[in-house]
Amino acid sequence: MENLNHSDIEDFKFEPVTTVAHSNIALIKYWGKRSVQMNLPAVGSISLTLDALHTQTTLQFDESLDQDVFSLNEKEFGGKELKRISDFLDLGAATKDRPKARINSRNNFPTGAGLASSASGFAALALAVNDRLGLNLNDESLSAFARMGSGSAARSIYGGFAEMKLGSKEDGSEDIAVQLYGESHWDIRLLVVVTSTEKKKLGSTEGMNRTAQSAPYYKEWISSQSSDLDEMRNAISAKDFEKVGELTEHSCFKMHGLAMSARPPILYWNAATTETIHKVWKLRQSGIPAYVTIDAGPQVKILCLPDSVDEIKKAVFEVDDVEHIIEAKPGPAAKIVTPENEIIA
Ligand code: PMV
Repeated sequence: MENLNHSDIEDFKFEPVTTVAHSNIALIKYWGKRSVQMNLPAVGSISLTLDALHTQTTLQFDESLDQDVFSLNEKEFGGKELKRISDFLDLGAATKDRPKARINSRNNFPTGAGLASSASGFAALALAVNDRLGLNLNDESLSAFARMGSGSAARSIYGGFAEMKLGSKEDGSEDIAVQLYGESHWDIRLLVVVTSTEKKKLGSTEGMNRTAQSAPYYKEWISSQSSDLDEMRNAISAKDFEKVGELTEHSCFKMHGLAMSARPPILYWNAATTETIHKVWKLRQSGIPAYVTIDAGPQVKILCLPDSVDEIKKAVFEVDDVEHIIEAKPGPAAKIVTPENEIIA
C-alpha cells in the first residue's frame, strides 16, 4: 500500500457495497513478523480457503457521520475493534481526513465460537474499500492491502489454495498472496472441531511478538520454512494427500512447539484439543487418512477426504467438550455480492 495515495481515488462512491470473503486455514503456518508496523510476515505460508466459514460486510461512506460505526453480528463495537477498522479505512483512503463510514459485518459462524474471523473479515473489508474508493487494485495488490489488516487475510482474497509470499523489500511491495490452485483442483475436507467457545486470551500479534523475542528456536523456524513451502506446493500439485497431511501436521507442531518455547510460554490448547489430536492419530493408525492442524486457539482442524468425514465426526464427538464440528470444502474467492445474492446468515 506504500504507493497508494489520494490521487488514486478516482471514483469515491457513497452508495453501499456488500462483499463476502471466506476464512482460510494455513497448511504451512505463518507465525512471526519481519515488520510489526507494516504487518509483514517473517515467513511465507500456504492455505486452503474454506467454503463453510465466511464474513459478509456492507460498507457505506456517509458524509453526515462524524465517526465510523462498526457492527459485527448486529453488535456495535467501539474501542480497539473500531480503531482497527478505522485505521484500515484511513490506509485505503491514504488519509484520516475522509468521509466516515458504516461497516456492518456478519460472520456465518456462531459469535464467540472461538473461531478467528480476521482473515475473512479483512479480506471482505479490503474488497469493499477497493470498490467504494475506486482504487482499482488487482488481486495481488488487494491481498497486500488485506494483509495490513491481518496477515492471514491476504490469502482469503483467493479461492482454493493460496500462498502468501515472503518479500525481502523494506517497502513490503513483494509481500503479496497469490493463488496456487482454484477450489475445483481437489475435493478434500476440513473439519473444524470446536473445543471451546471462550474468547482467545492471547491474540496472534502479541503471541508472535513474544515468540520472536524469546523463543530459542525462532531462527530455525524462519530458515526451515522455505523447504516446507516447496514440498507443500509439490504435494498439492500432485494431490498427494498423505504428503499434504504430513506436512500440515509438521508445520502445525513446529509452530506450536516454537510458541510453547517462548517466555512466558504460549499454549493455545486445552484438554479437549489434546484429546482430539490423539483421537485423530488413532483413527490414522486404523487406516483412516486424517491429519490435524491448529491455529492460535484451542480448536482442532482435521484435514481428511470426503468418504471418511462421517466416521471421523462420530469418533471426535466422543471427546468430552467437543461442542460442534463444522465441515468445510475448498471455498471460493472474495467477491462483491448484489442485494439479491446477499447471504442472510
Ligand atoms: O493473520 P493473523 O494475525 O490472524 O495470524 C494468523 C496466525 C495463524 O492463524 C496461527 C497462522 C496462519 O498462517 O493463519
